[in-house]
Amino acid sequence: MKPSKALHIRFKAAGAAAALIGMMAMAAFNVAHAADASNGKVLSESHNCAACHGPGLNKPVSSDYPKLAGQHASYIYWALRQYQIGNGNPNFGRNNAIMAAQVQNLSQSDLKDLAAYIESLDGSLVLKK
Ligand code: HEC
Repeated sequence: MKPSKALHIRFKAAGAAAALIGMMAMAAFNVAHAADASNGKVLSESHNCAACHGPGLNKPVSSDYPKLAGQHASYIYWALRQYQIGNGNPNFGRNNAIMAAQVQNLSQSDLKDLAAYIESLDGSLVLKK
């Protein structure tokens, strides 16, 4: 085999190994960040989410505050993330001073835990078709 060809094969093998390591790292990341609804409950209580979103996060104190209980976790996670991003990114951020303050000190896994907790709650949100 010509040396250049052998080198080429070795590079391909290295690429495959790197891809495999990358996939394993992603799998480990997903396990580490599996949402924990019970931690979400703890966070919800320590951050007083119910002070505005009401008991069970299902009875907001004001009619223009949203009900949360039972909403899809993926939606809640992204809404919370958008408040963190804020108006600095007008394409993705949400501009609300109240909620921006609530999520300031929460990590990404905190947001996912809160989202899992909120999804697990019984709520009176309805989807009208
Ligand atoms: C001081 C009152 C207040 C507190 C405390 C509060 N929220 Fe909110 N929340 C609001 C208001 C007001 C809105 C609507 C903001 C808007 O118009 O974007 C909102 C919106 C949201 C939304 C978006 C809902 C949707 O359907 O898009 C989520 C999710 C949310 N809050 C979660 C939480 C969580 C989780 C906590 C606790 C960590 C929390 N909130 C604490 C007042 C509050």
